[in-house]
Amino acid sequence: MSKITVISHPLITHKISVLRSVDTTCKEFRELVEEIAMLMGYESLRDLPLEDVDIETPICKTTAKMLSGKKLAIVPILRAGLGMVNGMLALVPSARVGHIGLYRDHETLEPHEYYCKLPDDIENRLVILLDPMLATGGSASAAINFIKQRGCNHIKLMSILAAPEGLARLEKDHPDVEVYCGCVDEKLNDIGYIVPGLGDAGDRIFGTK
Ligand code: PRP
Ligand code: URA
Repeated sequence: MSKITVISHPLITHKISVLRSVDTTCKEFRELVEEIAMLMGYESLRDLPLEDVDIETPICKTTAKMLSGKKLAIVPILRAGLGMVNGMLALVPSARVGHIGLYRDHETLEPHEYYCKLPDDIENRLVILLDPMLATGGSASAAINFIKQRGCNHIKLMSILAAPEGLARLEKDHPDVEVYCGCVDEKLNDIGYIVPGLGDAGDRIFGTK
């Protein structure tokens, strides 16, 4: 069974509402996506393991806790996931970054791969997969397949908005993947867009149409 966490912090909820507005400019949209990614990242990494380390403060020797366990890899799904990368890197600056290029066919809504470059040692890393939109779930499910084919079995997905249909698809295809989202919207419309949603995330981040 997938673990789905809706991060309903008021700061995130407020910023998502601004993101949705048709009046939000491309510059504002880009900045908000990065800020939301950082806030969501903080919460999604809450269970990172710590270990005791001996250190010396200016006052005395002591034992302090520091991060241990697997190193991280951040993997955005192109294009829109790119908008979330800097927010995550602000939290974990030494993380490796992989890229998976997928676009959705407008007729069939099926994802098509055009690029995949992942860190060599991805099987030893905790992967944080980034895509602001989980609609049908086809793109996220395909991206998770690529990562699993490379031997990685510890994956978290961070999406700003999720449709119930996308969450159900991930539950069926990848019940082991932890999903973090900022809001679960009502439904998909008949052309596969999230309702009420925010439109096309890639176009709004990059100012394309
Ligand atoms: C968008 C979005 C997701 C995908 C979600 O990308 O960024 O990757 O759609 O839809 P799904 O859950 O139904 O697969 P899009 O294919 O529009 O490509 P883009 O980011 O390059 O605009
Ligand atoms: N991709 C988007 O960018 N927006 C949607 O609403 C659905 C898929």
